[in-house]
Amino acid sequence: MNILAIETSCDETAISIVSVAEEGGQTKFDVLAHIVLSQAQKHAEYGGVFPNLAKREHASNLTPVLQQALEGAQMLETGQASLFATKEDLQAILEREPELFDQLWPLLEQHTKPAIDHIVVTAGPGLEPALWVGINFAKALAAAWEIPLYPINHMEGHVYSALPEFNDDHTSFVIPKVEFPLVSLLISGGHTEIVLMKDWMHYDLLGKTKDDATGEAFDKVARILGLPYPGGPYVSKIAAQGQPNDNVKLPRPMLNSGDYSFSFSGLKTAVLYLTKKLEADGQELTDQLKADIALEFELATTEVLTKKTLKAIEQHNAKALIIAGGVAANRRIRETFAEKLEADYGIPLLLPKMHLTGDNSLMIAIAGYFRIMSGQQPETDFRANGNLEL
Ligand code: KG4
Ligand code: ZN
Repeated sequence: MNILAIETSCDETAISIVSVAEEGGQTKFDVLAHIVLSQAQKHAEYGGVFPNLAKREHASNLTPVLQQALEGAQMLETGQASLFATKEDLQAILEREPELFDQLWPLLEQHTKPAIDHIVVTAGPGLEPALWVGINFAKALAAAWEIPLYPINHMEGHVYSALPEFNDDHTSFVIPKVEFPLVSLLISGGHTEIVLMKDWMHYDLLGKTKDDATGEAFDKVARILGLPYPGGPYVSKIAAQGQPNDNVKLPRPMLNSGDYSFSFSGLKTAVLYLTKKLEADGQELTDQLKADIALEFELATTEVLTKKTLKAIEQHNAKALIIAGGVAANRRIRETFAEKLEADYGIPLLLPKMHLTGDNSLMIAIAGYFRIMSGQQPETDFRANGNLEL
């Protein structure tokens, strides 16, 4: 089964093509193409993702990225197209993205139908203007080639991103057997939640953030410390140089609240007040002092994440832990969980490979495959949903 996956929920334009087979009781994915085009540099000057800029960038990137993906998968053959939709039909689907239609039409017209069996696309959560571009593009391809299309949940994609066991050159992977129940900690720019999974595709939300997401807090702290956007990797980089410092102490919000809720907005504000106080006390915000603050912020964040997640593992007798989402790239968080799980729990920690922590379409392809196998029906008429829940 060949699947084309499209992801445009935030500031990455991503397309993957995978070929999936059941082999010896395992599901094997061959990665025929995997492209992630990041717009982060373009958004950096605004210090955050601008929805309308993201939308424009997706619209101008999608066709070249598709072309590159089809070439990579050796599926781009010049020849007589036999399209299942008229130019006018496709123009109507891409009514709000005329420039996207203008790029896509020649590609459709000049090439034969690729050997794709299913198309899957992120339908939410995310930025709606960005999601719509990917959805309309997917709808146009599905109509032009008469290929079934499925909306996929971005956060379910992140869950699946933790599973692949790759071969050496990353051209294929298998999905290992996992035991249930398992706990998933989803930490990204828009989400922070602990989810109990009693089976595949069954999600019980145990708790989530009441305000900012973990990644959002990293990005805001980066801004306070004068670091570029997206700030998570920069905070983590300077934190590595940080030293324990008695003048640099931050709260652990909701550490002892007894539930699975988080709050990161107060932590970010505490960083702001701390820098103001240090300056008022006559301390210059040197690189070392910034590193100490970054370290303390990372320690505070890691402590609340670990305490609550481990409690969920104990309470539900979980057999594995998945950590996924952009913040799962954070080294301290990865290492802290790995140590604790190995020492005290003896259950596997499933983490995405570093290149799959951020937004990508491979995770959408994997989630899409399992959705299709579980009987999800194709849809032609669905909408972007910025707040789609698991
Ligand atoms: O999953 P993702 O790529 O996009 C969303 O769906 O939100 O997550 C992006 C978030 C950003 O806030 C970014 O700063 C954060 O993940 N991030 C990190 C690290 N790498 C990315 N946060 C902490 N440490 C990192 N190494
Ligand atoms: Zn994401």
